[in-house]
Amino acid sequence: MRILGIESSCDETAVAIYELGQGILAESVASQIETHAKFGGVVPEIASREHLQVLPSLVDQVLVEGDCVWSDIDAIAVTSGPGLMGALLVGVTYARSVGLVNNIPVLPIHHMEGHLFAPGLSDAGLPEFPFISLLVSGGHTLLIRVDGLGQYKVVGQTIDDAAGECFDKAARVFSLPYPGGPEIAKLALLGDESRFKLPRPLLNKDNCNFSFSGLKTAVMYAAKGCDNFDDQAKADLAAATEIAIADVLVKKSLRACKKEGVKTLVIAGGVAANQTLRNMLTTESGRAGIDVLVPDLKYCTDNAAMIAYAGSLRFKEGVDISDDWDANPRWKLEDLTPK
Ligand code: KG4
Ligand code: ZN
Repeated sequence: MRILGIESSCDETAVAIYELGQGILAESVASQIETHAKFGGVVPEIASREHLQVLPSLVDQVLVEGDCVWSDIDAIAVTSGPGLMGALLVGVTYARSVGLVNNIPVLPIHHMEGHLFAPGLSDAGLPEFPFISLLVSGGHTLLIRVDGLGQYKVVGQTIDDAAGECFDKAARVFSLPYPGGPEIAKLALLGDESRFKLPRPLLNKDNCNFSFSGLKTAVMYAAKGCDNFDDQAKADLAAATEIAIADVLVKKSLRACKKEGVKTLVIAGGVAANQTLRNMLTTESGRAGIDVLVPDLKYCTDNAAMIAYAGSLRFKEGVDISDDWDANPRWKLEDLTPK
């Protein structure tokens, strides 16, 4: 069984082919980061236009690289939400058109379900259920208990900004371009995290929720209050910012595992590419007797391999392949769990 995955929910156009029992046959990601960087964030209209320009040739390229023709493809899995409406529509409309012409069923896939199951693309495969997943991206910060495909319980979430959003907004304090996460991480390598004391929001509250907007403000005030905000001060503050975000994410994730009595923790989403977070999580979960699974770096940020893989899981379950769905920019992960 071969599934062609298409991802176009934000600023990455991505295509991949996943074969059951084989893994990924071919994949490609075309990033629009350079286009949007000069605007300091993603411009939805420009994103849609670029997806439209790039997607057809990307699909052709991946089919060739995967040594496939359309008749080798059993299903098309496409991200149908959440995300930017125009961007989603490009992927969904394209998937539907080629599906219709080639008589291939099209499966709507939830972007975050793709991230949730991305660790299944590793050699070790998916861990046993249940596991806790820390989903940290530009738009989401969620702790989810996963008991199976489509069986999700939100254990914790942010009450304001997402962790990635905090990185992206804090980056402006350092005059760093979008996306801020990898840029702050790079700068932090040169810094001493102990020079600036930043808060750990909600850490003392006995729950698994997050708050990042106050941290972003604290970074701003720390910079303003610094007499000489030179290169070293910037690096020190970047290191303190990165550690503060990672510290809260790690502690709350371990708290979620403890509360739910779950022994496996998985991380996913763009922020999961952060090396400091990965290192801290590995060390601290080891101490707490929790197994932690970190996906390959390329499967943390947006990609189509995770969409094709989630599509294969949905296809195997024998989902109703009806045409009764549409792109849904506000699709909630909880909506996938039968009430
Ligand atoms: O999952 P993703 O690629 O797209 C969304 O669905 O949002 O996540 C993008 C987010 C951005 O906020 C970006 O700054 C952050 O992930 N990010 C990182 C790193 N790489 C990407 N944050 C911290 N460290 C990184 N290395
Ligand atoms: Zn994402």
